[in-house]
This record gives sequence, structure tokens and C-alpha cells, in this order.
Amino acid sequence: MSKVNLLLGLQWGDEGKGKIVDVLTKQHDIIARFQGGPNAGHTLVFNEQKHVLHTIPSGIFHKDAINIIGNGVVIDAVIFKNELDHLAKHQIDFSSRLLISRKAHLILPTHRLLDAASEISKGKAKIGSTLKGIGPTYMDKTGRNGLRVGDLELPDWKKRYDKLTQKHLKMLSHFDVAIDFDLAALEIAFFEGLKALKQIPFVDSVSYLHKAIEAHKNILAEGAQGSLLDIDFGTYPFVTSSTTTAAGACTGLGVAPNQIGEVYGIMKAYTTRVGSGPFPTELFDENGEKMAKVGHEFGATTGRPRRCGWLDLVALKYAVQINGVTQLAMMKSDVLSGFDTIKACTAYEYKGKIITHFPYSIDEKEVTPIYTEFKCWQKDITEIQAINEIPDTLNEYIDYIEKYVKVPITILSVGPDRKQTIHLV
Ligand code: GDP
Ligand code: IMO
Ligand code: MG
Repeated sequence: MSKVNLLLGLQWGDEGKGKIVDVLTKQHDIIARFQGGPNAGHTLVFNEQKHVLHTIPSGIFHKDAINIIGNGVVIDAVIFKNELDHLAKHQIDFSSRLLISRKAHLILPTHRLLDAASEISKGKAKIGSTLKGIGPTYMDKTGRNGLRVGDLELPDWKKRYDKLTQKHLKMLSHFDVAIDFDLAALEIAFFEGLKALKQIPFVDSVSYLHKAIEAHKNILAEGAQGSLLDIDFGTYPFVTSSTTTAAGACTGLGVAPNQIGEVYGIMKAYTTRVGSGPFPTELFDENGEKMAKVGHEFGATTGRPRRCGWLDLVALKYAVQINGVTQLAMMKSDVLSGFDTIKACTAYEYKGKIITHFPYSIDEKEVTPIYTEFKCWQKDITEIQAINEIPDTLNEYIDYIEKYVKVPITILSVGPDRKQTIHLV
């Protein structure tokens, strides 16, 4: 029996998960996405080309890997079709490498409308959702009303679709805000999307994965979003609607906890967040602007500017603990090159006390970060390939983080390209 390795984000998403899944795919036979939907934007860069994936696992560019969209994922057929079109344009033969779980849920056009109405009605308190219909689709899943990929094979599928759509339209009329939409146009795109979706084999993904485990296949579970956006452990209510943490791989794929092997935690050398919600180490000065500019910190899905700030080790340690992280990949240290000094938050002042755990609320009214300062690396590190080329100051930063969270950094990423990756062990 083989173990299922797991890869997930430890901050508020966009840590660089897509890049590292792509890098690790050569050691795996199967890449299985376990939660989230097209709210995700996973960027891969190689051969001077950039690809952004939303639903399709990030192993799709490797011809020998099978990519599975797991039962925990929610799929928007329209966005999925666009992804397939992108792959076809780049001559990627996805037909032999992509499978979809029959138990994955479908995002209907009206889920997106409900997401929009919910956000508008919240006013200033809005979540900052990507408006992809994620919340309403997971609500229908847990409310036991959802439609699944496997339902597309049923004779009464259209009846089920119409019933749920009618229910959503009634719900929309109860919001105190009105939104404009053309359902007929949305449905044309949706049914076109479904046609494309049906070109991909639907599978009973749980038995598929268990057979693969018995056949000693190497499997990598790919997470979306980040631990601080987890529905239970994130900065609620400013979170997404799925379990983004390690437990989500068990429920989102049907693998048991004792079948999990390595847990790769992906983190940036600093922190970013897109959307609303608390962010204790957020910077509003030229340092934050520099991170945003040098790091091209714009959302891969919505294009919104990402908020930037120093690394938060209190939050990182919390994420390491709840996920059982065994190895860390530190991304984007190249972005900090040229800073004189950098900081990491190593404790919070919380209600007048110094704490090092992640409390109930990290709202700015409650939490003031306490920082440790580090000398920064001055040289451009984007071309370095070997461990002995890593500047001492960067090694000191790495050592400090490893000691703080008690997990080794085994991968150092020094640029967006697949090649700009140093394995530290
Ligand atoms: P994901 O959602 O976790 O897959 O991350 P995103 O793709 O949304 O955002 C990460 C961004 O950083 C993308 O634009 C990547 O191309 C880029 N990136 C990844 N690793 C590095 C790195 O080490 N250095 C730099 N400069 N950019 C990186
Ligand atoms: P990847 O996989 C960063 C954020 C949104 C919003 C909140 C809820 O690329 O790391 P939702 O659309 O899920 O209802 O939005 O979560 N969010 C992300 N932020 N990266 C993501 O995915 C995200 N997916 C959702 O900005 O604050
Ligand atoms: Mg992203």
C-alpha cells in the first residue's frame, strides 16, 4: 500500500501551491484535487508560458500523471470548459489524463447569482467572495439539495436542475437587493459547459483511489485556498466554505487519516490576503507596496490587488499544527531581495497579554503583532540553483522559521518558473 501525500496552503491562499504541485508531479502518478472550486487560481510557469488553473489539478501538464477532480470539489461547467479550451490551445491531451468524481457538486448559474446577492446585501461587511458561487453551492451540499456530477447521468437530471433553479430564484427574490441577470443567456453557457464536462470520464473516485493505493501508486492530494480560509479554523466569517486543511483531503477524496503520508505546507516568505477580513501583519507603507509590486500580487482568479504584510509565525505555527505539516515549501523569498531588514511576527499582544497561540479573534482591535527583525538578503536570488548559493541572511531566516514551527523547509522557491526551485534536502 502506498500513502497519499498532501499539499496545501498555510496562509490565506495564493501561496504558490500550483507551482509546487507541478514540481512534485514527476514523483507522483496521480494528482487529486480535494476541495474548493473555481475560486482558486493556481499558476504554473514553464517554457516562458504562464497557465492558470481553477478546477483542473496542477499535474495536468505532465503526460504520465492522472489528474482527478475529487468529490470535495465544486465545479462550474462554464469555467471548466474555458480551462479545457486553454489546454487544447496548448496541445495538452487532457482526455487521457483527467477524471472527475461523480460525487463532486455542480455550481449552477443561480448559485453565482445567490453569491452576488448575498455579498451585496452584506454591504461593508462583505466577505470579498470571488463571486464564483462557492458559498451557495456548499450550502446546498450540506443542506442536502445539491446536484452532483453523477446526477448528469440520470434520466430526470433536467427536472432536478429546474427544481433547484426555481428554488434559487425564489430565494433571490427574498434578498433586499435586486441583481440584474439574464438567466437564459447564463443557461446557454452552462449547458455548453456541461457538454464539455461530459467529454471527461466520470468515475467512482473513492474506489479508483483505493485501487491505486493498493497498487502502490504515488498520489498527491492538491488543496486550494489556505488554512486561514478554512471554514472551521480560518478567520471566520471571512473564510471560504470548504475544509481547506488536511482533514479536507480525507473527506474530499475518501482517503483515511492513516493513509496520509507527507504533508507539504506551502507558505510565502511574507503574507498576502485577497478579500476582506483581519490581517494583523498587513502593511500600509512602502514595504507593503514593494511586496505587491515586486511580487505581482494580484489575484489569479479575480485580478484584485492582494493585501501584503510581514510573515506571521503565530498563524503559521497554528496552520502547521492543524495540518500535521511534515515539510514546508517557502515561496517568493526573491521578492524580499533588497529590503534592508524584514520582520516576522513572533507573538501577539492580545487583550493586554502576550500570547503565541492563534486566538478566537485576530481582529485588529484585539491583536497587535510583536515582531522580530531580520537582516535581509541583498542579492538577486532568482538565478540561484544550489544550496551553497543561498545568502547567509536567507539561511538565518529559514533557520529561525524552522525552529519556530518545528518543521523543516525542504523546498525554496526563488521565482515563478518551475526551474526556480531549490530542494534543500
Ligand atoms: P496558488 O493559488 O497557491 O497556486 O498561488 P497563485 O498562483 O494564486 O499565486 C502565486 C503567484 O506567485 C503566481 O503568480 C506564481 O507564478 C508566483 N510565484 C510562485 N512562486 C514564486 C516565487 O518563488 N517567486 C516569485 N516571484 N513568484 C512566485
Ligand atoms: P487559491 O487556491 C486566495 C478568498 C476570497 C474571499 C474568501 C471567500 O488560489 O489559493 P469565496 O469565493 O471562496 O466565497 O471567497 O476567500 N479566496 C481566496 N483567496 N486564494 C484563493 O484560492 C481563494 N479562494 C477564495 O478572496 O476573501
Ligand atoms: Mg491562487
